[in-house]
Amino acid sequence: MASKEFVVQQLLKAYRKGIISDDLFAQQMAEIGADMNGQGHAAISTSQSAATTSVDKGQALAANGQPAGSRPRPAAPMLMRGITGDASIDGGALLTAMREKRNYDRTTEDLGNIVALEHVNVTVPDQEKATLFYINALGLTRDPYMMTGPANMWVNVGRQQFHLPTGKPQVVRGHVGVVIPDYQDLPQRLNRVREALAGTRFDCHERDGYIEATCPWGNRIRLYPPSKRFGAMQLGLPYVEFEVPPGTADGITRFYSQIMGAQAATLEDGQGRFACVTAGNGQNLFFRETDRPIPPYDQHHLAIYINDFSGPHRRLKERGLIFQESDQHQYRFQDIVDPETGKVLFTIEHEVRSMKHPMYLRPLVNRNPSQNIMRYAPGEDALNWAKAMN
Ligand SMILES: [Fe+2]
Repeated sequence: MASKEFVVQQLLKAYRKGIISDDLFAQQMAEIGADMNGQGHAAISTSQSAATTSVDKGQALAANGQPAGSRPRPAAPMLMRGITGDASIDGGALLTAMREKRNYDRTTEDLGNIVALEHVNVTVPDQEKATLFYINALGLTRDPYMMTGPANMWVNVGRQQFHLPTGKPQVVRGHVGVVIPDYQDLPQRLNRVREALAGTRFDCHERDGYIEATCPWGNRIRLYPPSKRFGAMQLGLPYVEFEVPPGTADGITRFYSQIMGAQAATLEDGQGRFACVTAGNGQNLFFRETDRPIPPYDQHHLAIYINDFSGPHRRLKERGLIFQESDQHQYRFQDIVDPETGKVLFTIEHEVRSMKHPMYLRPLVNRNPSQNIMRYAPGEDALNWAKAMN
């Protein structure tokens, strides 16, 4: 005859697989004397003989989850804690939420068509200086698998990357947001490269809530500590903000919404109007109107993954905007036009990839930049890009 522990495990398996209902599970647990209200591991009465249940006997279950031929029994209380060590069951939070029939705002889970902003690509004339800035000062990680020679460097930032091929310096017309977990160590790291980068455009300033660091060729990176604003992201690239001519935000919003199928809206804050485009989970493209002169475009680019790959391709092609059919999984465009007028509002090359692209969700290695030979901590070489949100 089966032990009670065995019966409990069988019941849990059946319950987890959805074979038995909540009520039947509670009832069976009550019948065999398993304490569903106590703390710690299952408290099974030892005064009773080992119980048998419909599950351990292999008795057929009716479609409604009740043992075939069984008479209805009153429902047992559904407080379950400390039985299995499995938080999803022991904590009872999931069951409690299900019973309470909470009203979730399901729309907050929507992403629209752009599912990920993956990299920002700017060419750099000097890989040694780029290494000092992106790796040593910012604390990011060189991709150990791809582009490992002096002609190009891919730099991991959580699940995103900077791509830095060697070439004439390119500068994003705006700035790139980066979330960095060891924000408190950043000023020290930035100061350490100041001398080596003297004579370049390198600079750094602490502002209200972020540090703005300028790369040796003028790219502005705005670095933030993890916070509620960035959700679970501890290390990553949450947004790129472009500076665009006055009066273009509405047309840019229409472009991303109507042509790219993205979530987009024109918003206004203390600094003025901007188009806000969802570009992944916790990621955005911002296009902020400015009166300042905008430099000529120098061919830097960004890469996005989209779900509906062919729809935007068709609409872009109709307007003559596709300039490169890279391969089966990728095409490129660079002009953002107002769909109502066809007027070019801003230019930024988009490397558009499908979710079948072989590099989609490619795992990226991220190091812990606070490791050093003087205070090496075993087991702490790697960083996670995200933290659980509870
Ligand atoms: Fe690229």
